[in-house]
Amino acid sequence: MTRPRNDNFLRALLKEPTDHTPLWLMRQAGRYLPEYCATRRQAGDFLALCKSPGLACEVTLQPVERYDLDAAILFSDILTVPDAMGLGLYFETGEGPRFARPLRDEAAIAALASPPLEKLDYVFQAVTTIRKALNNRIPLIGFSGSPFTLACYMIEGGGSRDFRHIKTMLYARPELLHRVLTVTAEAVIAYLNTQIEAGAQTVMMFDTWGGALSQAAYLEFSLAYMRQIVARLHKTRDGERIPAILFTKGGGLWLEAIADSGCDAIGLDWTVNLGDARRRVGDKVALQGNLDPNVLFAPPEVIAREARKVLDAFGTGNSGHVFNLGHGISQFTPPEHVHALVEAVHDYRNH
Ligand code: CP3
Repeated sequence: MTRPRNDNFLRALLKEPTDHTPLWLMRQAGRYLPEYCATRRQAGDFLALCKSPGLACEVTLQPVERYDLDAAILFSDILTVPDAMGLGLYFETGEGPRFARPLRDEAAIAALASPPLEKLDYVFQAVTTIRKALNNRIPLIGFSGSPFTLACYMIEGGGSRDFRHIKTMLYARPELLHRVLTVTAEAVIAYLNTQIEAGAQTVMMFDTWGGALSQAAYLEFSLAYMRQIVARLHKTRDGERIPAILFTKGGGLWLEAIADSGCDAIGLDWTVNLGDARRRVGDKVALQGNLDPNVLFAPPEVIAREARKVLDAFGTGNSGHVFNLGHGISQFTPPEHVHALVEAVHDYRNH
């Protein structure tokens, strides 16, 4: 199989030379785009949008049509996996995700099983549909949540500020949490490998809440499972390498350990200096990040200046860096400010 015509993103992840620093934005398809809001209205709600391969394809392509981006990301959600496990995902307007049946007792945890993949068929169909529509223009990223981050939502029953339920289990009944994580890791391996078979050209694991843990707990309850998953992912598909990216928000203190996990690239939030990160991981992995998404609320000249700071911090070499935000783009971002950012990263190529 041939690589996409613009394969700078894949090259950067594999630390091969690139023409320019590739960029894409976490949550690039979302509510800051009026065309996304229109398609979501047409679908009825967010979950219906995720579950319609045709409409998921449409919103995946929206940011790629508007901006000169170097990668597309599957439109879906990390919570599709626990939903398929029967936890009953729903979204309360303005309140984020909720589970009707969170894992709160031993019986529920004993009954937890990796879901039949047919329940996630809509995701794999979306991947295939998007690959066709992209027509080898740019690569497509598939993704999942990390087992720990998925377990946070499964045990808390939704978002949380203090992670009281999962941390109580972690310290009081660690064997129960390990069972949840083991089952979830099996599900994630099958889920990501099937995305790769359907056409995903890179996979990224979102560990949004790993940074809420102590170092010892992070290594035991989050990174250990991501490491097992990375080891069991398809490494190639039709002769092309499939890079794996790990993103632990708040994981800046543990970069050396993450770089040793077998992943190809580390996603970084904005708290880390990219140059320091590069020195710490050496040439083991590529780096992806790490502009504070709130920079996009400032005027275009400030956006350009801050983007150049990120590029300068990484330094020269023009390989091994994928420009991105340090976390998802806010729904309140003015779409024209994203233009300013993309232009600033592109202009930097020529100086
Ligand atoms: O990057 C992309 O464009 C792909 C789409 C994508 C979504 N969610 C769409 C989405 C991706 C990669 C995710 C991952 C995801 N989902 C994470 C990990 C990344 C991160 O942000 O930390 C997490 C923790 C979730 C769980 C989740 N889904 C939350 C907490 C929320 C509510 C937050 C919010 O912004 O409202 C969602 C809903 C969600 N997922 C939306 C989108 C576009 C907004 C829903 C809507 O349109 O109403």
